[in-house]
Amino acid sequence: MPLFTALVAAGAAALTSAIPLESRQVIPNYPPNLLSTGFRLVANVTDPATDLTPSVDGWELIGIHVGAGLNDAVLTEVAGDGRIFYHNGTAEEVRYGRGSILTDSGNPPFPSGIDVQGETEHDATYPGEHAVAINGGSGTIGVSLLPPPDPYFYVTALAPGTFVACPRNVPYYNEEFIVVRFAYDTWDPDTALPVRNIPEGCTAITLIPECDTLPQLPEGSISSHAEARNSKCYEDVSAINWPEYGP
Ligand SMILES: *[C@@H]1O[C@H](CO)[C@@H](O)[C@H](O)[C@H]1NC(C)=O
Ligand SMILES: *[C@@H]1O[C@H](CO)[C@@H](O)[C@H](O)[C@H]1NC(C)=O
Repeated sequence: MPLFTALVAAGAAALTSAIPLESRQVIPNYPPNLLSTGFRLVANVTDPATDLTPSVDGWELIGIHVGAGLNDAVLTEVAGDGRIFYHNGTAEEVRYGRGSILTDSGNPPFPSGIDVQGETEHDATYPGEHAVAINGGSGTIGVSLLPPPDPYFYVTALAPGTFVACPRNVPYYNEEFIVVRFAYDTWDPDTALPVRNIPEGCTAITLIPECDTLPQLPEGSISSHAEARNSKCYEDVSAINWPEYGP
């Protein structure tokens, strides 16, 4: 090694060890992403200690038919089987978190959107819980991918809270599915801090976009992809090693 390089290297090493850990410059390190109009939504269990058995980490979002144009949002363990969604809205709407997340189905294809019950609405069977559905229509405005500058990409709602996955009986089938719910945060008046309200037996998840190809619409479709925006998405959500990207 030339002397100069060796000196610089030794100096750099000495310098690094002299700086206390807290003041070292943090270089942002985020998982690499791609751009695509289509994506599947993959569940990331955010608190692995509360994961379900079997684990639902990496399961994908689909809708199950429960009536005309009505679908409960559930997770499937079959990798690659998730519905293909797109982020709909004008560029400005999407930028300000005022878009919605749509998918197409039927013949001719019509749009369905991710619907999240508001804080005052409740599931018919589990009145303490706020249901998530994939019903015909525009979806809940504001249920969208995180707008910039957030470096991670996942589905957010207008009010603070988290999506959760719960084993629940679906009356239409009288069968248990891993259903998706939204758990709104409340405020602790004593500490003035937000409090998570994860329903009994559920685990908190984020729904992370995994890039996929948005199918072309046939002539005569009711759906339109004219306002389907490009979304930042990950190539393989389950392969992301989160600790590597910690703060
Ligand atoms: C995904 O889950 C891990 C815990 O398993 C967590 O550390 C990470 O922050 C989560 N990422 C997102 C974007 O939710
Ligand atoms: C998609 O977004 C555009 C622009 O806001 C809107 O006109 C259209 O109605 C949306 N599509 C649906 C199905 O809501």
